[in-house]
Amino acid sequence: MTIENDSDLEALRRVGAIVRDVLAGMGDHVRPGITTAELDAIGKRELMRAGARSAPRLAYDFPGATCISVGDEAAHGVPGERVLHEGDLVNIDVSAEKDGYWADTGASFAVGKISSKQQKLCTTTRAALRKALYAARAGKRLSDIGRVVEREARRGGYRVVPELAGHGVGRFIHEEPSVANYYDPHNKARLHEGMVIAIEPFLTTGNGNIITDADGWTLKMADGAAVAQYEHTVVITRGKPIVLT
Ligand code: CO
Ligand code: CO
Repeated sequence: MTIENDSDLEALRRVGAIVRDVLAGMGDHVRPGITTAELDAIGKRELMRAGARSAPRLAYDFPGATCISVGDEAAHGVPGERVLHEGDLVNIDVSAEKDGYWADTGASFAVGKISSKQQKLCTTTRAALRKALYAARAGKRLSDIGRVVEREARRGGYRVVPELAGHGVGRFIHEEPSVANYYDPHNKARLHEGMVIAIEPFLTTGNGNIITDADGWTLKMADGAAVAQYEHTVVITRGKPIVLT
């Protein structure tokens, strides 16, 4: 969506703060021994307490309040009996709707102590998001975001997951445009003031190909490689974007 007035911005700030806080609260509970269903239950309770509705459940009838993806799972992991183990990397993605406004955030968390290789993947993916945020300004091309993310991935010796992208958001969870994590020279679209988008680089140590798990939801790295994602919902301005999450 594109923000038209202050009340749009205020409502987006409210739902943005909710998903940010729910993600942080779930992140605080990440530890060896907890199941992804237990983590999801915390997210479900906190969303309810805030008067928000789970976006994946509302929009796609997803079997969980949040998406929790472990190890080689990139996205849309279904919460269940899987137990987190020391050394796992777990991604939690929280998106929700409140009063007709939607916001989306996500982050990868270390379960106990992770390897320095995993740590570096997380650090680089975070840096890719930070640099993408810096590139996201009114008047610049949408493809500048993918260019920055891809460059950062290459610099770290990683690849992006080309099938997974950011997106417009605000009046629904997934809106136009798609915000690619790679440079598409044919995409001449420009970012404009008030535009609301979710930016979410996915970086992997492997080849970047994904497959859908037998559960019909979970997107996994085809080669079993490690993957990380960080995501923010932002409003485009002529200067630094307003980070809602
Ligand atoms: Co998300
Ligand atoms: Co998203």
